[in-house]
Amino acid sequence: MTRVIAGRTAVVTGGARGIGAAIVRALIAEGVRVILADVDVELAEQTAGALAGPAARVQARALDVRDLQAFQDLIAGLEDEGTPPDILINNAGIMPLGPFLEQDPALDDRQLDVNVRGVCNGMRAVLPGMLARRRGHVVNLASTAGVIGIPNAAVYCGTKHAVIGITEAVRREHLGSGVDFTYVLPSIVATELTSGTHALRYPPPGQPTEVATAVVGALRSGRIEVFVPPFVRMSRLLPAYLPRRAVEALGRLFGVDQVFEGIDAEARRAYQQRIEEP
Ligand SMILES: NC(=O)c1ccc[n+]([C@@H]2O[C@H](COP(=O)([O-])OP(=O)(O)OC[C@H]3O[C@@H](n4cnc5c(N)ncnc54)[C@H](O)[C@@H]3O)[C@@H](O)[C@H]2O)c1
Repeated sequence: MTRVIAGRTAVVTGGARGIGAAIVRALIAEGVRVILADVDVELAEQTAGALAGPAARVQARALDVRDLQAFQDLIAGLEDEGTPPDILINNAGIMPLGPFLEQDPALDDRQLDVNVRGVCNGMRAVLPGMLARRRGHVVNLASTAGVIGIPNAAVYCGTKHAVIGITEAVRREHLGSGVDFTYVLPSIVATELTSGTHALRYPPPGQPTEVATAVVGALRSGRIEVFVPPFVRMSRLLPAYLPRRAVEALGRLFGVDQVFEGIDAEARRAYQQRIEEP
């Protein structure tokens, strides 16, 4: 059954730039009213301001997804205004890189907080209302890194495995509730998050718009697991059929082991500073 999304209200976390901003744009084009929530409120306002128009309803809101109370207040405010969210896109995420043993444990905590706790906070904030209305769709941004282990991104991979496991479990707790759940697994996408890293041999870096198109498709279809591009579903399928050595050899062939190896620190400096800000 195709779901109608025009006229719905969506909250997109981390919507100020990158994949989130592309999702905001795609939703507006579908006639969705969007609340663009980001910790970088200045950029959120700029992004929303550039997209708003007579037919485009978009508002920027300050939100740190690590703060459950702030997330609940945002959702309660929308419910009080009579525009409860029908759609939540848990997109905010960060990706510190480097050898596991050299990582600052404080950065481990931060990515667990943003990438995992942020997703839990979002679901805790919207689900009571969605379940009461028997209508809603939660889309959580995982990653292809959530089905494999990529050197120099150990904790990031862990957070994305967690997003998949948590989404699957919460979805199965709420089968038949009227609320849909999707997790999205993009390969490498050209955003600030991947600045200074290497491209895979295949597929080439994707564009945020490709992820946004896939998210809109999932909102219409109710699809649960969405790889972007679809080819990277191989990362899930091959280990089920091939011996580990063959899978690892294929990983090296595609450049998976090298993608975060010897990264360009200068090209990544601005991103690194941003994700370390208090
Ligand atoms: N770019 C990729 O290659 C790629 C691949 C797979 C999955 N993803 C996932 O897609 C999502 C978006 O990534 P992106 O590449 O667009 O990153 P990005 O860095 O370009 O944008 C992320 C946005 O999230 C916001 N944000 C960060 N911490 C926040 C917080 N605590 N609260 C609210 N907002 C916060 C940032 O201000 C920024 O606007 C992330 O979850 C990421 O892990 C990205």
